[in-house]
Amino acid sequence: MKYYSPLMPVPSGLLKIPKSPFLVDGTRDCQFLKFSLVIPTYNEGDNIQEIIKILSQLLDRVIPEEYELIVVDDNSPDGTWKLAQELTLEYPQLKVMRRERERGLSTAVIRGWQVARGEVLGVIDADLQHPPEVLLQLWQEMHRGADLAVASRHVEGGGVSEWNIIRRFLSRGAQMLGLIILPKAIGCLSDPMSGYFMVRRDAIVGKSLSPVGYKILIEVTARGRIRWIGEVGYVFQERQAGASKVTWKQYIEYIQHLLRLRFDLWPFKRFIRFGIVGFSGVFVDIGIFYLLRTVLGFGLTRSTILSSEVAIFNNFLWNDLWTFGDISRHQQGINKRLKRLLKFNLICLSGLFLNVLLVNLLFNVLEVNEYIAKLIAIAAVTLWNFWFNLKLSWRVSDAQK
Ligand code: GDD
Ligand code: MN
Repeated sequence: MKYYSPLMPVPSGLLKIPKSPFLVDGTRDCQFLKFSLVIPTYNEGDNIQEIIKILSQLLDRVIPEEYELIVVDDNSPDGTWKLAQELTLEYPQLKVMRRERERGLSTAVIRGWQVARGEVLGVIDADLQHPPEVLLQLWQEMHRGADLAVASRHVEGGGVSEWNIIRRFLSRGAQMLGLIILPKAIGCLSDPMSGYFMVRRDAIVGKSLSPVGYKILIEVTARGRIRWIGEVGYVFQERQAGASKVTWKQYIEYIQHLLRLRFDLWPFKRFIRFGIVGFSGVFVDIGIFYLLRTVLGFGLTRSTILSSEVAIFNNFLWNDLWTFGDISRHQQGINKRLKRLLKFNLICLSGLFLNVLLVNLLFNVLEVNEYIAKLIAIAAVTLWNFWFNLKLSWRVSDAQK
């Protein structure tokens, strides 16, 4: 008498990918497989048999016995999880997880990856809109050394079948918005909306993922250790059965997701330190100005310039040691330090120029009180100086990543 495979344990708590995989009974096991493919489902009863059959035939040819398929179903009313569990009789490499509390496509994928044993983790839709045969090309990209291999509709060989103009516009619009809010995580992909990709487990191990809605891929590129991305063109197919679950809610969730990632990835601690150093610079500036102007009787302009320069030097030293110390220690040597000091100086001088411009604009054009204008200008210039110094003076080179 053959029995269905038991349902997989449903992880809870942090959405973190473990270093070593779990077994069904929740014990840890370092018996890795080569590949785990998660198939998130919701009401895919009409598609589940077909997709499992095709995926098994494909992967049996390439990595027999060294892969697993993990259906993660959110307690579908059409009983997709039950149908999938029955299929485990015929497909022993198929595992099924039935979630009854947590819901959502992207968390389903991560919960599937949390119980997965593959060194490479993948995701594909259950509705055959992601052509399964593209898996083999994605697998080749991983084999060549990619950390992430994405099936893209926007590279050669890619496309969408009969999407109406509105869906095309929304998809491209979402991509544009993502490029503005998260240029790095979105800009490295031609199709950041793709839900069809593979990622090396090591690239996301230990990273706390916190996706919202449908877009798991931007979570991976924003929080993962991704150096090499391979892309494969594919044509997004028409659904044969069932219906898309995409509603306006997913678009709202996508914007929420972008803003959350932007907030999470903003280097707050560094910014606070930068502000404290800048504040200390004010006292150095005033102190030196008093010494030169009142004690030594220097002229006004000379006192202003010299005291500002000493304050900039003070700020550079503290920022190099404390605010950006974790970066500058990888950029040792007097030449590199002088180069950073020069860039820091130029950025701070441009900040001084911006300060004067803003105070005049606010005071003379918008008739803002001069002290309010000064405070607004200081806040704006602090952001300006921080961002350009982070990106230029203490830039983390790819090699250091
Ligand atoms: N477990 C679970 N929970 N699965 C879900 C849920 C959910 O809440 N919502 C949808 N799914 C499953 C569907 O059953 C299907 O297998 C897959 O996720 C995609 O859902 P669709 O509703 O068919 O999305 P789509 O076809 O409009 O868009 C898909 O393809 C795009 C291009 O790759 C999604 O994968 C998008 O994220 C992706 O951008
Ligand atoms: Mn679909």
